Amino acid sequence: MKDSNKRENNLSHLAIIMDGNGRWSEKKGLPREDGHIGGVKSLRSLLGYIGELEIPYLTVFSFSTDNWKRPKSEISNLMNLLRKFIQTDLIELHMNNIKIRIIGNREGIPSDVVKLIESSELLTEDNNGLYLQIAFNYSGRDELVNSVKKIGSSIKAGDLDPHNINEDIISNNLFTAGVPDPDLLIRTGSEKRISNFLLWQLAYTEIYFEEALWPDFNKELLSEAIDDFHNRYRRFGRIEESLKK
Ligand code: IPE
Ligand code: IPE
Ligand code: MG
Repeated sequence: MKDSNKRENNLSHLAIIMDGNGRWSEKKGLPREDGHIGGVKSLRSLLGYIGELEIPYLTVFSFSTDNWKRPKSEISNLMNLLRKFIQTDLIELHMNNIKIRIIGNREGIPSDVVKLIESSELLTEDNNGLYLQIAFNYSGRDELVNSVKKIGSSIKAGDLDPHNINEDIISNNLFTAGVPDPDLLIRTGSEKRISNFLLWQLAYTEIYFEEALWPDFNKELLSEAIDDFHNRYRRFGRIEESLKK
């Protein structure tokens, strides 16, 4: 159902699994690190466009807790890239009124990187432009385990009755507390899976699988994905009649 049935869904939160950096570099006969550098360039150039589109929230998956299983050299390149990204881009992101939040487990991340993360969050705390969540050392299951631990502590402290646990309490104990669930998830690089991303939050998210590898993803391809999203029929379990009410 397209065009004749255009729905213009509200796109408040866009999430992206930025996949395909390694294959991009391998195809060019380059080291994998070059693919990750290309990936950062791609993100940098899309941020401006996403700002122009006035999408309030963007969440990007940049390093998963499962990515620690990669060779040490690749992990260290990825840590260096985050360091560099914060050091070189932070001021510009701040000038563009972007609020940065790094979601994921801080344990295991080198302490100097944690300090950079904290300083980027602090500097941009009061910005009210694009709300950018970078998922780094993140996985959806780890986030849920962390949330259960926090809820368990509240119960132990006598602040919460287990009978009162509801969906809001779980949401409010996730790294993404206070941020609406994504409306659209794009995964580049042609794999058709979630890979442990935002497991709770994706309950009713529209999913778009993109063939292009992340370093080749650009504003034209993003615009196609958004057009496709606007033509989706989001029902949230209801049927047409009840949606009118
Ligand atoms: C995504 O690209 C970036 C990270 C997971 C860190 P990949 O490195 O997974 O690229 P492919 O999937 O091997 O091509
Ligand atoms: C997902 O990509 C994680 C990121 C993009 C950071 P992966 O490349 O790690 O996922 P799999 O291994 O293909 O499922
Ligand atoms: Mg991959």
